[in-house]
Order: sequence, then structure tokens, then C-alpha cells
Amino acid sequence: MSKQSSEDKPARHVAIVMDGNGRWATARGLERLKGHVKGVDRVREIVKAAPDFGIEYLTIFAFSTENWKRSAREVTGLMKMFRRYILGEAETMMRDQVRVRFIGDRAPLDKKLRSLMDELEILTAKNSQLNLTVALNYGGRDEITRAVGRMARAVKMGMLDPSEITEAKISNFLDTADIPDPDLVIRTSGEHRTSNFLPWQAAYAEYVFPETAWPDFTVSELVKMLNLYKDRDRRFGASVAK
Ligand code: IPE
Ligand code: IPE
Ligand code: MG
Repeated sequence: MSKQSSEDKPARHVAIVMDGNGRWATARGLERLKGHVKGVDRVREIVKAAPDFGIEYLTIFAFSTENWKRSAREVTGLMKMFRRYILGEAETMMRDQVRVRFIGDRAPLDKKLRSLMDELEILTAKNSQLNLTVALNYGGRDEITRAVGRMARAVKMGMLDPSEITEAKISNFLDTADIPDPDLVIRTSGEHRTSNFLPWQAAYAEYVFPETAWPDFTVSELVKMLNLYKDRDRRFGASVAK
């Protein structure tokens, strides 16, 4: 039996837990927010470079449903940064043909930020060079909980029969409906956990945990991770690689 690896199949969907901004800043005597600001530069570079490596879908974890536990100063600073990023990136997204979507619960976000998110999604809806999904106020368990609520309402209204509930149907009720499952999940900064990121979708993803903090995660770091992915055997439960 020939050994097959992911060599011939580039990671079509890469998902990233952009972690380590706070520690990066603290280690340099800076306030945590400076690490987040630096992290945005890395986002710009990775988004620009992704299509060169055959990446069609890029999903980035920007803010979790658990991140509200941080200081008011950090949360407010992050929200302001998201507003700025969305406003400032529209032109680039159109130039580079990037389709932007957001996943997560939008209800608790401020009205101004929500309308900027809606506008960017509408503006870029027809772009097809790269699908960028930004997880903002995202938590996997929260996403599944909201999906179950919607499914229950659909059953109650007679629009969904419980006997029709399949894995594919559940996927369609998630925020990521229409987005394929990630092939590779990268978590930076040496933390070895998923922190509630895409638990349903990443069931069969390959994981890599580079030590590099997100503000130092340049395109060459991404290349290293894609090379690690290439050597992985993905068996999906079968006895040989698929
Ligand atoms: C990730 O970096 C960014 C967000 C969670 C918004 P952190 O802020 O978690 O950085 P560390 O883990 O404290 O270093
Ligand atoms: C996950 O990182 C969330 C984001 C990167 C947005 P955290 O830093 O919040 O995760 P924990 O607290 O270390 O698990
Ligand atoms: Mg962290």
C-alpha cells in the first residue's frame, strides 16, 4: 500500500486561533492592546498571501464569547480596533477580491460595529479570490446552542421533521453553513487547546501549535505550518490515507 499524505492536496481551508498578542506586548513592556494592534498587521499580510498557497478559505478567531471576561479597557480597545479594521479594509478587500463573512453571535455587539460588519459582507459578497471568515464573539458551544434553538423552532413550525436531522442538516444550521470544514487549524503562541473554536467543523482537521506569538506570525511562519500539514496522513477513520 502506498503511503499517501496531504502533499498533493494543499490545505483548502486554514483556520487560525490568533493567540499570544497580550503576552507579546507584556514581554516588551507595552500594554496588551499594542499586541492586538501589531496582530492586525499580520492579519493583513496573511490575508494577502493566502491565495498564493492555494488557500481558498481562511478563518480567523478575533474574539471569543469568553473574551468578555477581560478588562473593560481591553474589550473596548478591541471593539474599537475591529471597527477601524473593517472600515479601513473595505478598499483592499475589493482590490484583492476577498469575500468577508463574520461568524459568531452579533446580538451583544454594538450597533455601529454590527452595521459595519453587515456592510462589508454585502460589499464583498461577490468576491471570489479568497473567503475570509472572521469569528467575532464566536464560541463553538454558543454556535451549536443557537443552531439547536433554530432547529427546534423549525420543528415546532412544521418546517423540519426530526427524522430529517442529519449531520449535513446540522451543519447548515451553523454560522458556517456554505463554508467547508477546515483542513488545518493553527494556534499560535504555544497554547495546546482549542478554546471553543469550531468544535463541530474541525472534527477531522489537522492541528499545529507553533510557539510563535501572533504578532510575530509572518508569511514564512505560515509556510512552515503548511509544510507540516503536507506531511500529515489524513485517514478520516479509514485504515489508509485518503
Ligand atoms: C489573542 O491574544 C487575541 C484575543 C483573544 C483577542 P491574547 O490577547 O489572548 O494574548 P495572550 O494569550 O494573553 O498572550
Ligand atoms: C482564543 O484565545 C480566542 C482568540 C484568539 C480570539 P484566548 O486567549 O481567549 O484563549 P484561552 O483563554 O487562552 O483559552
Ligand atoms: Mg490568549
